[in-house]
Amino acid sequence: MTKARLHGLKILVTAGPTREFFDPVRFLSNPSSGKMGYALAEAAALLGAQVTLISGPVSLKPSDRLKKSTIISVVSAEDMYRAVIKIAAKMDIIIMAAAVSDYRSVTYSSKKMKKSGKSVTLKMEPTKDILKELGRRKKAGQILVGFAAETNHVAENALKKLQAKNLDFIVANHVGTEKSGFEIDTNEAILFASNNHHLALPSMSKEKMALKILHKISATVGNSPCL
Ligand code: CTP
Repeated sequence: MTKARLHGLKILVTAGPTREFFDPVRFLSNPSSGKMGYALAEAAALLGAQVTLISGPVSLKPSDRLKKSTIISVVSAEDMYRAVIKIAAKMDIIIMAAAVSDYRSVTYSSKKMKKSGKSVTLKMEPTKDILKELGRRKKAGQILVGFAAETNHVAENALKKLQAKNLDFIVANHVGTEKSGFEIDTNEAILFASNNHHLALPSMSKEKMALKILHKISATVGNSPCL
């Protein structure tokens, strides 16, 4: 792949988990390490794109490859929603690799909740679906890519998400296996395009997978999504 393919294009990548605090010291989250999103941002920068990375709390440090990129740190799903929506219209490609929390507590206690020894019930409400909103607002020519973390019926569920969120591509991850998912260095996935074509991405490093995904996406810039 030549640098020219992504040169001058603006890419937004989201990465990592979000944290939904329900008191100053406790939150709901998930084990996403952010590695796949960071690998995608770094690969996009390597290929000449102008990269914006919006990251939830992770322990990764952006490499030198991202030194000319814009990096925005967020905590909650609401923070990520605001940060993404603010700049989405300017982007040529948006890749939502973040593991956004689907729920948050309805209430927030500004003081630490003390234990009483009794059971407590936390009422949860849905967070905003950022990708769905991006699908609604998608401008002509913009490429929208989602991830689907699935434990079963991987292809079926991923294709439903691709349609429901008006995506061009979705990377379907079978989570909970030894070779893919949260917190590990390799990934195994299937890349689906909106024309029903798909590309199997067998077990490989997240860096290699990031390059393969971008290679396919960049080939469709200005054309219809196909694999
Ligand atoms: N996503 C998002 N905003 C949310 C939840 C998810 O933008 N509030 C995005 C993720 O970044 C990912 C895609 O939607 O690119 C699919 O996320 P996933 O958790 O697999 O699916 P959900 O739509 O949340 O559905 P479910 O949890 O029921 O599988």
